[in-house]
Amino acid sequence: MDGLDELRANWLGRIGDASTEAALEELRVAALGKKGEIALKMRELGGMSPDERQVAGPALNALKDEVNSALVAKKVALGDAALDARLRAEWLDVTLPARHRRIGTIHPVSQVTEEVTAIFADMGFAVAEGPQIETDWYNFDALNIPGHHPARAEMDTFYTHRAPGDVRPPHVLRTHTSPVQIRHMEANGAPCRIICPGRVYRADYDQTHTPMFHQVEGLAIDRDISMANLKWVLEEFFTAYFGTKVKTRFRASHFPFTEPSAEVDIQCSFADGTVKVGEGDDWLEVLGSGMVHPKVLQAGGIDPNEWQGFAFGMGIDRIAMLKYGIPDLRAFFDSDLRWLRHYGFSALEVPTLYAGV
Ligand code: PHE
Repeated sequence: MDGLDELRANWLGRIGDASTEAALEELRVAALGKKGEIALKMRELGGMSPDERQVAGPALNALKDEVNSALVAKKVALGDAALDARLRAEWLDVTLPARHRRIGTIHPVSQVTEEVTAIFADMGFAVAEGPQIETDWYNFDALNIPGHHPARAEMDTFYTHRAPGDVRPPHVLRTHTSPVQIRHMEANGAPCRIICPGRVYRADYDQTHTPMFHQVEGLAIDRDISMANLKWVLEEFFTAYFGTKVKTRFRASHFPFTEPSAEVDIQCSFADGTVKVGEGDDWLEVLGSGMVHPKVLQAGGIDPNEWQGFAFGMGIDRIAMLKYGIPDLRAFFDSDLRWLRHYGFSALEVPTLYAGV
């Protein structure tokens, strides 16, 4: 059969030159499709003598196979080239450093609450909590502060609103953590050993007072607990908390819910406007305490003839200021990012006793 060599040269050349898969497909149809050039040549076999056909048939079939293989090979080559191009275009440098993100800090109040909790936990105290909106019974009456008592006025209490005609006494924002004593005694009875850290509220505002601040209450009840246990626990606490031996001074005082009552000062020095705890011969008041009043035990459902115990209430913000040299309480609650970055703690600095709190 004539012209097969040109046919081969032509198709193999065009296949070699094809630059897209679509062009390749067009070539396939034009060469091998039903009306393709090679298919039409196949039809010519019908008009040949058997001898001619015996030569031309295999030659045409071989050509067809050759073109087919060239198409397949070219298709694979085009696919590989396309992938290479994509890999080059979509290249990404994964070694680039990540964008800087600012990490938040733990607020000193949260940090100190954790520190206090770790130290008291080591002495066997569990943590109890109560609501910040209290009935006046839990906040006052149950703590032996009756309606006419001057302590109610002194506390600068925030009262909630009551609808006109509603004669129930208003709820209050708790003025101290002491109501948690009552709730805990009611729910768990005696003996007990707990601390209750949390927010408290009083209408007051200056360098050392904010309308919301934090206290931690302590309550230990058993059959033979005395003021001596109170003093030991507090000295142990202050020494662990400040990381140095701290002397305490108990001053006789008065709270309606404890009898006898004492205000506790810690040893410190004032020099150049800075306070240093655990040295010098000045004193700083840090908490109120005493032996739980029998009426308070009764209000909590505990028999005062069988049980007795001590209680104390301490300002968390106050001891945070002392330990970390923070001069103004109001800044604690201003949410000034520069302040928070400066005085805040890393989330990884978890207070533990073995690390010195
Ligand atoms: N609740 C008192 C206060 O807020 C502190 C206190 C607690 C005193 C327990 C004695 C016993 O000032």
